[in-house]
Amino acid sequence: MDLQHSTVLITGGSSGIGLEMVRQLTQIGANIIITGRDPDKLKETKKQFPAIHIFQNDVSNSQNIAELYADATRQFPELNILINNAGEMRLLDLQDTSNSLENMTREIDINLSGTIQMVHQFLPHLIKQHSAAIVNVSSGIAFMPFSVAPVYSASKAGVRAYTQALRLQLKGTNVKVFEMIPPGIKTNLQKDWVISTDTKSSMTMEVDKMVEVTIKGIQQDRPELKPFLITVIKWLSRITPGTLINFGHQQFEKFKQLNVQSNRSAK
Ligand SMILES: NC(=O)c1ccc[n+]([C@@H]2O[C@H](COP(=O)([O-])OP(=O)(O)OC[C@H]3O[C@@H](n4cnc5c(N)ncnc54)[C@H](OP(=O)(O)O)[C@@H]3O)[C@@H](O)[C@H]2O)c1
Repeated sequence: MDLQHSTVLITGGSSGIGLEMVRQLTQIGANIIITGRDPDKLKETKKQFPAIHIFQNDVSNSQNIAELYADATRQFPELNILINNAGEMRLLDLQDTSNSLENMTREIDINLSGTIQMVHQFLPHLIKQHSAAIVNVSSGIAFMPFSVAPVYSASKAGVRAYTQALRLQLKGTNVKVFEMIPPGIKTNLQKDWVISTDTKSSMTMEVDKMVEVTIKGIQQDRPELKPFLITVIKWLSRITPGTLINFGHQQFEKFKQLNVQSNRSAK
């Protein structure tokens, strides 16, 4: 897939993986459009990369998606790559009754429904392009639920299943379907967590390396954009499924203790 002559829309392009994609795609020469909810973060990104185009937008709001589609395709009719990257990840104790019913599904609304609705909205436009692609961002957690982030885990397993089905349905069209599968990466995703993340762990990766793997994979038309670490996780999740899940579950015990403490001190 040619990136240099593409117009790429990245949801959540103002931080972390999305921001690094902006940096690397700018070097390649792609035309870049980014979205996000926080206008200050968008403006800051535009200051850093003046050639990009910014749209304030929330992917969990279907009206916002319809407006984005109308504005972006009117201004950039050549738009041919959609990267569904926007996401959130919360640590949740499922016995904590302070979470409202509505708030419980937040990651499903953003990570999964947001991705599905963006694809539904932009697909008729992409199909008309000479060469087009959809990149959905899942996670290594799609192979091994992380018990401390149960709704996030469900959302990413859903993104993976949906992306595989989408790829089959779009076979024979000019729209290629990619799944980007990052392992743990230190970004703003973890900024509100009460437990700290170990950035030196063998289960994590630097953001620039992950994006390099992704860009190379898109250029070489590899359906799964993943580092070797994810191949290992995928393999372990098949031969010894309980091992990684139980290892990750230790974080829940830590979270539960710290959460109780922080709730006590907040009172
Ligand atoms: N970091 C990791 O360890 C890791 C591992 C596997 C997969 N991933 C996935 O990679 C993707 C990017 O995450 P990241 O680590 O780069 O996190 P990040 O640094 O927190 O960036 C998330 C981006 O998404 C935007 N965003 C969040 N909710 C949104 C919404 N409802 N509508 C539009 N934009 C929204 C944020 O901007 P606003 O807040 O301004 O909206 C921000 O630009 C996510 O899908 C995440 O699940 C991350």
